[in-house]
Amino acid sequence: MTDSPLALPVVDAALEQRLVGRLTRIEELLEGHCRSRTPYVTRAATHLMMAGGKRFRPLLVLLASEVGPHPEADEVETAACVVELTHVASLYHDDVMDEAALRRGADTANARWDNHVAILAGDFLFGRSSELTADLGPDAVRIQARTFTRLVEGQILETVKPEPGEDPLAHYLEVVAGKTGSLIATSARYGAMFAGAREEVVEALSAYGEIVGSAFQLSDDILDIASESDTSGKTPGTDLREGVPTLPVLMAQASTDPADARLLELLGRPLTDDAEHAEALALLRAHPAMVQARDYVLGQAAQAKKLLEVLDPGPVREALESFADIVANRSA
Ligand code: IPE
Ligand code: IPE
Ligand code: MG
Ligand code: MG
Repeated sequence: MTDSPLALPVVDAALEQRLVGRLTRIEELLEGHCRSRTPYVTRAATHLMMAGGKRFRPLLVLLASEVGPHPEADEVETAACVVELTHVASLYHDDVMDEAALRRGADTANARWDNHVAILAGDFLFGRSSELTADLGPDAVRIQARTFTRLVEGQILETVKPEPGEDPLAHYLEVVAGKTGSLIATSARYGAMFAGAREEVVEALSAYGEIVGSAFQLSDDILDIASESDTSGKTPGTDLREGVPTLPVLMAQASTDPADARLLELLGRPLTDDAEHAEALALLRAHPAMVQARDYVLGQAAQAKKLLEVLDPGPVREALESFADIVANRSA
């Protein structure tokens, strides 16, 4: 990564400066949107929002807006706030579901307060996000509602096993597309749409966002297994502990090699015992499924980049290509 304050390298200095300037403004707006009449609500809602975060989704809105004739439109900034508010709201709820203690390097709201506060702080932020979406007009309201439905469906689907006869990998990919791909697709769509890009470009960027978003989650799931130390601000190994199967696990489970018998016995059930958890992590890290999973993600990034061929060559297209590469290479 470069010295850029952005979460991706941008080769064009003018573009970089524009993005940095606008993200600074979006930070101020986000802080304002977390404010409530009640100081306690403000504290709970501000807690995760201001604890950091890569701001990938607002950055994608801004970057995607650069493909249209009016990237400077106010709606682009509003949309950038909408997607981050929706994202952070979903994190509050996700940490309750996953019983997570650490997020963005800070205590989760459920750990610091309790599940009720975390759920209601998430609801408050969803509410704020909806208020702002209303300012963007009925099309945005429809898109946002659909996105939210898909995100929640993905989160629910993760808690249920595949139907009998359903391919577990297909089930997982549906979960990932719903819980993460949907909002990242919408981020790219909003940027292009509110900057006035033509329909074909809006659709291509939305499809690109869907793939990049899913790849982002796949990378994150690989990192949950691969990262030795806690560089993510989250607790590694959480998925295994919770018994949530992810791409490397599903790929390892397809193995018929007798040498994998112990690993397969450990996988597929929650690993609450520390020694068993450490053993499964070590076996999985050394398994060829890790390479296979990373290759799959790289393939997804290549597919996403192909969709950008609808754009004129130049710094914006290059930055969008880098965005896909960074997402895929996070877990490399
Ligand atoms: C976390 O998203 C949830 C996933 C979809 C993996 P991010 O990795 O974008 O989290 P922040 O916003 O940087 O904290
Ligand atoms: C997060 O999923 C997805 C949403 C918040 C919708 P995860 O549970 O896989 O992400 P982390 O690892 O907690 O960030
Ligand atoms: Mg989680
Ligand atoms: Mg989760």
